[in-house]
Amino acid sequence: MRIDIISIFPQFFDCLDVSLMGKARSSGVLQTQVWDLRDWTEDVHRTVDRAPAGGGAGMVMKPDVWGKAIDQVIAQAGAPKTVLAIPTPAGIPLTQSQVRDLAANTEHLVVACGRYEGIDQRVSQYYQQLPGVKVLPFSLGDYVLNGGEVAAVALVEATCRLLDGFVGNPNSLVEESYELSGLLEYPAYTQPATWRGLDIPAVLLSGDHQKVKSWRRQQSLMLTAKRRPDLIWEIEPGALEKSDRE
Ligand code: ADE
Repeated sequence: MRIDIISIFPQFFDCLDVSLMGKARSSGVLQTQVWDLRDWTEDVHRTVDRAPAGGGAGMVMKPDVWGKAIDQVIAQAGAPKTVLAIPTPAGIPLTQSQVRDLAANTEHLVVACGRYEGIDQRVSQYYQQLPGVKVLPFSLGDYVLNGGEVAAVALVEATCRLLDGFVGNPNSLVEESYELSGLLEYPAYTQPATWRGLDIPAVLLSGDHQKVKSWRRQQSLMLTAKRRPDLIWEIEPGALEKSDRE
């Protein structure tokens, strides 16, 4: 997958050089390039924003600068299809199923990181109707960040770890939260058996795989019901066993 990130703070993305992301980039599983939006400005002040039409607080990012930047990164990649992701608190909440879809079906991802009061709406409108481009306005959650950069890093990391060849053991992805079961993942423990007076649950040390499996399933269900009751209602009734219902 090729990923182009456009931002006025390109140094924000130095974090993509570390850990598994860095490895994937050097091994070629992933090609990423970070661009400075100001390189497409033409004035001496390298202006990227103006006061909002209609008045009000803050500044809005200029469509002309964004248009030139996005056109160039799309043309340069030469991919038949591009997903243009725009982080915004007004976007669709990002989910594991969207990320799975991106990882499986996207050759070229462009992330356009806005700051201030966001990017002029016509940018999203223009690329939505452009053949070969799909616009994905997404939100990390119901809170406001200073800009799209943190959300862009989250999107890129969540997507890239699902690419073939990214993680050493792909089985480690299967039992995670939000994956197959639609439940939160059960709690994990490791040695020492007792730490600060707290024990690893005895069943996990019993060696009885069946018991471990049903304990974990029960923990997942209880945790999900407590923390994310909304997810419980989305489970297909047929996917619940009798013991789950109990
Ligand atoms: N930009 C500012 N806040 C954001 C959020 N919650 N999600 C995505 N992008 C943002």
